[in-house]
Amino acid sequence: MTAGGFAGIAMWLTIFPVDTIKSVQQSSSVKLNISQVTRQIYNQGGGIKGFFPGLTPALLRSFPANAATFLGVEVAKKFLADF
Ligand SMILES: *[C@@H]1O[C@H](CO)[C@@H](O)[C@H](O)[C@H]1NC(C)=O
Repeated sequence: MTAGGFAGIAMWLTIFPVDTIKSVQQSSSVKLNISQVTRQIYNQGGGIKGFFPGLTPALLRSFPANAATFLGVEVAKKFLADF
């Protein structure tokens, strides 16, 4: 479960900026490409930290969620191995 929790945190830290760019592009009322969205986030979000809005709640949620996922996989594996 600890491994799952830390895996979740590592996953979110890696994917967060990409996910932010995706979300801004999806919710934009005008058609923007990835370069334009990236530049816009950087300029309006105060640099690199603009790519990490709401990171703390995402990490707090990710630890138990991914710990539970790993537990679920292990429990299912054990259950299925008994057949
Ligand atoms: C994104 O759009 C800008 C402005 O229209 C353009 O200059 C740029 O080449 C485009 N970038 C990509 C990767 O398509």
